[in-house]
Amino acid sequence: MHKNLSEILLTREQIEKRIKEIASEITKDYEEKDIFLIGILKGCFVFLSDLVKNVKLDTNIDFMMVSSYEGKQSSGIVRILLDLRQPIEGKDVIVVEDIVDTGLTINYLLKTLKTRKPKSIEVCTLLNKPSCRKVNVTLKYVGFDIPNKFVVGYGLDYNEYYRNLPYIGVLKDEVI
Ligand code: IMP
Repeated sequence: MHKNLSEILLTREQIEKRIKEIASEITKDYEEKDIFLIGILKGCFVFLSDLVKNVKLDTNIDFMMVSSYEGKQSSGIVRILLDLRQPIEGKDVIVVEDIVDTGLTINYLLKTLKTRKPKSIEVCTLLNKPSCRKVNVTLKYVGFDIPNKFVVGYGLDYNEYYRNLPYIGVLKDEVI
């Protein structure tokens, strides 16, 4: 375990197993359809790459980058730093997030993306912190519900570090 962590919340094996289950659900739910996955950078990149390898559908992948966090606190102000390269009109879209915390980021993104007239739009998130929600959002695919702790690894960062850890851990208080 990394020296700056107090505990490992989810092991690599647990995460990989759950991602395969979600990929099977998506494959079943969208049978015979093309899907359009929107990965929300940077946090999604490890999760998304594991997910797409296990989804057995014709899959178009694009990315957006948004910023709502500085360090550990949500600012509540969402900015689009990188937008899609393709239109999503008429597509079956799944937005792929690393974590939904207050819900402010995904709520804003869904509102924006719905104005582009996708045929359908759902959310798939690796982690969910239900106790932190400030706005109500519907999450169709959730990897794990986790407690209100600041976690890193598997794509999630603290000030841009720890994304490469192959598990999800809780940062020690003295590091934050
Ligand atoms: P929300 O708008 O509060 O739902 O926050 C969503 C974004 O905040 C995520 O995409 C993450 O980038 C970041 N975030 C929220 N909680 C954590 C955490 O525990 N560790 C790392 N990043 C987090």
